Amino acid sequence: MSEVEALKSGLVADIESADSLDAVEALRVGALGKQGVVTALLKTLGGMSPDERLEKGPPIQSLREAVTDAIATRKAALETAALDARLASERVDMTLPAAEAPQGSIHPVSQVMDELAEIFADLGFTVATGPEIEDDWHNFTALNIPETHPARAMHDTFYFPDKDAEGRSMLLRTHTSPVQIREMLKHKPPIRLVAPGRVYRSDSDATHTPMFHQIEGLVIDRDIHLGHLKWTLETFLKAFFERDDVTIRLRPSFFPFTEPSMEFDASYSLVNGQRVMGGTDGWMELGGSGMVHPNVIRNCGLDPAEWQGFAFGIGVDRLAMLKYGMNDLRAFFDGDLRWLKHYGFSALDVPTLSGGVGA
Ligand code: PHE
Repeated sequence: MSEVEALKSGLVADIESADSLDAVEALRVGALGKQGVVTALLKTLGGMSPDERLEKGPPIQSLREAVTDAIATRKAALETAALDARLASERVDMTLPAAEAPQGSIHPVSQVMDELAEIFADLGFTVATGPEIEDDWHNFTALNIPETHPARAMHDTFYFPDKDAEGRSMLLRTHTSPVQIREMLKHKPPIRLVAPGRVYRSDSDATHTPMFHQIEGLVIDRDIHLGHLKWTLETFLKAFFERDDVTIRLRPSFFPFTEPSMEFDASYSLVNGQRVMGGTDGWMELGGSGMVHPNVIRNCGLDPAEWQGFAFGIGVDRLAMLKYGMNDLRAFFDGDLRWLKHYGFSALDVPTLSGGVGA
């Protein structure tokens, strides 16, 4: 066997037994790279006489072709094997009986948020969201809560330890009201939105958890007045509790970002000692509301002489408790599977107005 033939069978054998793409690449560089053995042989052709080249050229060319082909074949084989191994490891057996798979359920908070979105969408509201990690300006200052305002202390805020150049820290939003600011800065009125989400306060007992859920409502338009607010709250509560005898009561209150400010209660009745929403036996406090303060409208670059509006904020967990009869808020966040099984909703229970939002 000639020297070239021996080199060819040696290289081809090495390539065929290479066990990784990296090994194939190393062999390719060793043979066909700038300093490769095959490349060196090809270079000798230039210095040969025509007769010599006629004799020695073809075996060298055939060596180059054989090595190139062997590399391509081995590479393809290794790539296919790698893909097969990946497919095998990611295989899902679709024939497994579904009954044996663990079943999840929709958390009552998620269900209620879906119900709220459905009801407010029907009233022409969009759904907005904002970040849970907020800055001081959006959570407080823009909402007419200046730095020295006692309302800041009222909120039991969780601050992050890092401070910026002005000594301010980021915080976990204490309410969904900063979404009002973000949306007013982003969109021109008219605005009609609800903003559901998580909020945080350093507070914990049977009726308070450090994280809970709120839904914010905001309407900004021309000639908006308290009647619009009252109608919206009442219409939404009747739809949510699926009873026409839910009435509401507005009580004067104070929030820095609304003027006038009102807390609102919904009526309940006592059935076998249990509170059921609707009826005339008593009032249950549900949330805060009011006409958006002119300063807030101004802070968002709008003219309060032209644009007015109302806003409200309601505890979503509380709404869920009242509608579905749970009595301890802490159970919402315990992750106890028995509780979730009992109070959770099927994944296919999508709230619709025609089917009953809480069907
Ligand atoms: N952000 C207030 C709170 O968390 C609730 C509220 C929202 C009040 C909008 C008025 C208007 O207590």
